[in-house]
Amino acid sequence: MHRRNFLKSTSLLAASLAAGQASAFRLWKNTAQKRVALVGTGIRGSTLWGKNLVDNYGEEVQFVGLCDINPGRLETVRKYMGVDCPTFTDFAEMMEQTKPEWVIVTTMDSTHDTFIVAAMEAGAHVITEKPMTTDAAKCQNILDTQQRTGREVLVTFNYRHTPHNTAIKQLLHDERVGPVTSVDFHWYLNVYHGASYFRRWHAYVENSGSLWVHKATHHFDLLNWWVGATPVEVTAYGALEHYGKNGPFRGASCRSCPHKTECPYYWDITEDESSMRLYVQNEEYDGYIRDSCVFREDINIWDKMSAQILYDNGVVVNYSLTTYSPYEGYRIAFNGQRGRIDSWEDIPYQRGEYSEEEQRALHGNEMNFDQEETPSEFHEIVVHDNFEPQYESVKVPKYRYGHGGGDKRMLDYLFVNPGADDPLGHMAGTRDGALSVLIGIAARRSIAERRAVRLDELVRV
Ligand SMILES: NC(=O)c1ccc[n+]([C@@H]2O[C@H](COP(=O)([O-])OP(=O)(O)OC[C@H]3O[C@@H](n4cnc5c(N)ncnc54)[C@H](O)[C@@H]3O)[C@@H](O)[C@H]2O)c1
Repeated sequence: MHRRNFLKSTSLLAASLAAGQASAFRLWKNTAQKRVALVGTGIRGSTLWGKNLVDNYGEEVQFVGLCDINPGRLETVRKYMGVDCPTFTDFAEMMEQTKPEWVIVTTMDSTHDTFIVAAMEAGAHVITEKPMTTDAAKCQNILDTQQRTGREVLVTFNYRHTPHNTAIKQLLHDERVGPVTSVDFHWYLNVYHGASYFRRWHAYVENSGSLWVHKATHHFDLLNWWVGATPVEVTAYGALEHYGKNGPFRGASCRSCPHKTECPYYWDITEDESSMRLYVQNEEYDGYIRDSCVFREDINIWDKMSAQILYDNGVVVNYSLTTYSPYEGYRIAFNGQRGRIDSWEDIPYQRGEYSEEEQRALHGNEMNFDQEETPSEFHEIVVHDNFEPQYESVKVPKYRYGHGGGDKRMLDYLFVNPGADDPLGHMAGTRDGALSVLIGIAARRSIAERRAVRLDELVRV
């Protein structure tokens, strides 16, 4: 297709998705406590969206029902949250009996669409964890149902809300280095956090859409938000070269493995109180093994991912995701017409220290939103104008817990100040949810078909 026609046709995609912009949080404004039901009582559902809402947002939220396919986990979580609402293993039954105004979806990724659609059909609004969904047909169904029912769907992109990512957005919004023309974005998962995806349901494309969707939806959403344009075409490469069938040995689970002493990925789940309580003690109901082997032969997601993304304003992004790095962090650079913005997170050599203990604990701290510390460190954003010998160093307070402080800020936006101005557009709806997963879905197709894939091939305009 001629480039100009191509960009025009993809901007139709943007226009058709525009109806799905987030406006739902305004619906919370000035109204009484919300009747909320939650589906998916795993770690995210029971903690951030469960006990945390009960303890810290109790005036705004009343739980009217909890649902999960695992009845043991459901009851464990009901007690942990300290609520006495009814529990259900059947979602339709919960909707019928409890008639919630809002449904929070925190199930396995590939099932999100079922609950988002059914909740809207039943007249409820939705808050869904990322990724909004895992394939194009499911995405289309969510968009069509929303258009038909007029219900709201919020997608919880907590990474937007960190002070660091917000400061980058502000600089780009202000065109501090002129219009941006290209971006380099490289994300590194360390051998602890990266490996965790290969132990769980995430290790199968049919469950998670692969890390192109499950994990990279965060990164693609940040890119879409930062660049402020619509992604139109993706070319990608990927491979599975480290985990899965590549391992030298394997076992059924870490607990029962004969290779405990020689395997660098051995993980003792019995030392993790919440994993024992949530998963091991409820294995009998669904057979889900939380400490599965990272070297299972049938793992089918990629562990090395690289993509180029073209936007409708001409911006080109070079992106990569690594899953077995010695350290966790990211590097980003925006090339503008008048200069360049560089930033990074957690690169140990730039901080002048490396600690294996810290690497091991990083992801746990990320998931722990209870502790809002007074920051003792800062993130740095370097802004360098062309032809200038001096550069500006912007320092942003660094929060370690709750996804860089993003979880708490997002929930405050949702529940405490729901009508507050949103000048940088932090709140995300189905348009953002769709465009971020469609990049990953296009990447999967690009690898399979060895060609550039346009996003308007994936959803109907
Ligand atoms: N925004 C973030 O930073 C962030 C962080 C962690 C997890 N998440 C998201 O939260 C969601 C849950 O992740 P998790 O780590 O809690 O996983 P988990 O495996 O701990 O929990 C998933 C729960 O869903 C239940 N479930 C699965 N299929 C179901 C179905 N058909 N009907 C009802 N229940 C079903 C499981 O039994 C389990 O209790 C995922 O979509 C994940 O992407 C987001």
